[in-house]
Amino acid sequence: MNEGLGPLAGRRIVVGVSGSIAAYKAVSLVRMLGDRGAVVDVAMTAAATRFVGPLTFESLTHRPVLDDVFELDAEQQIAHIELAEAADAIVLAPATANLIGELAAGLVGDAVTAIACASRAPVIVAPAMDAGMWTHPATQRNVATLRDFGYILVEPEVGELASGLTGIGRLAEPPTIVAAVEHLFARAGDLEGLHVVVSAGGTREPLDPVRFIGNRSSGKMGAALAEAARDRGAAVTLIAGVMSVTPPRGVTVIEATTAHAMRESVLRAAPNADILVMAAAVADFAPARASQRKIKRSGDTLQIELVPNPDIVAEVGEMPDEVRPFLIGFAAESNDLEANAAAKLRDKGLDLIVGNVVGGPFDAIGSDENKVTVFAAEGALTDWPMLPKRQVAERLWDLIADRYRHSRGATESTTSPRRRRS
Ligand code: CTP
Repeated sequence: MNEGLGPLAGRRIVVGVSGSIAAYKAVSLVRMLGDRGAVVDVAMTAAATRFVGPLTFESLTHRPVLDDVFELDAEQQIAHIELAEAADAIVLAPATANLIGELAAGLVGDAVTAIACASRAPVIVAPAMDAGMWTHPATQRNVATLRDFGYILVEPEVGELASGLTGIGRLAEPPTIVAAVEHLFARAGDLEGLHVVVSAGGTREPLDPVRFIGNRSSGKMGAALAEAARDRGAAVTLIAGVMSVTPPRGVTVIEATTAHAMRESVLRAAPNADILVMAAAVADFAPARASQRKIKRSGDTLQIELVPNPDIVAEVGEMPDEVRPFLIGFAAESNDLEANAAAKLRDKGLDLIVGNVVGGPFDAIGSDENKVTVFAAEGALTDWPMLPKRQVAERLWDLIADRYRHSRGATESTTSPRRRRS
């Protein structure tokens, strides 16, 4: 047994096992987590106990298996809730289509769903099922819901399935799942002590009491960034334009639905922020006048005069060093991504810019996935594939946290240290 000095040492991990033939792989998973120093509790659905006996897990963990919360007395039920609260992570492996559906719907029918639902710990889901079930729209919709909850997905693999056919749906191998758990803890806390401000969503520029000029931004990328920063220990302020997703819990939300309101909120928050990520789609123009009364239909052409809005991130870029946060912008481009992103990075005084494509088949707007390229003054830094936005957010924070630390180290060694704020 390894001494457990890695990222899993002393971590409380609940492994939730559901009823799939792949349940036998959960045995190696539990052993590997224990070998790395984690304290593992196993919860099983009734169906899972038909594939692997609870005693197998109890022998490995030396702890009772939770297999039916509803047969327990009140005191034991409370113990389960305490376990849900004490858990540092929950790993659902294998997760059947049924379990994924229950979690997406918020249905609590057994020990696994009860713990996952009661806990606020990060949840890693490793699905296992037949290829047809995995690709079914209901499963994909439920998986998308879990991603929206912030659950981390360890994708099923392609290989021979229980049916004897080959396809996608095989449970990821235990070392892959362990790596996902280790990655979670390795980066946990890397933004501890920092104040991160993220702007998200689109702005709406009013024309009259009922109409506006807006854009298709959903706020999903900014919400994923805010949530990931929160999970890494940052104090997070989300400056929310119009969003189609609910802001994550545990972050301070400031609503700002016009470009001018957003400017005010961002300029107020920026001097107290260590890092500012402007993911919002800010309207570049607003109607010169918003009519107090609803504009009436007439047979005539309607002319609307548009005036430019302030460039918010560029204003932050011009702040003096002592108050200017580490600054990340986004570039939404339909063409010439690299050249346009490089120009925005320079013109707006950014430290990094995240370029993404809008319009066409790879349209990032409103999508759950995004393909981005990050640019710094020296050029493109990344070559990432299309990924779920939460995974994009994690990769972005890996990069931003690293660059931020270097920039602060560099600044502190010069004569103008950054002002530290409370
Ligand atoms: N941005 C801003 N204020 C604006 C417009 C944009 O702070 N009035 C920020 C965005 O939040 C983003 C970056 O600037 O971080 C680039 O936004 P983008 O819409 O790609 O570029 P624009 O500067 O608006 O240029 P264009 O629309 O001409 O491509």
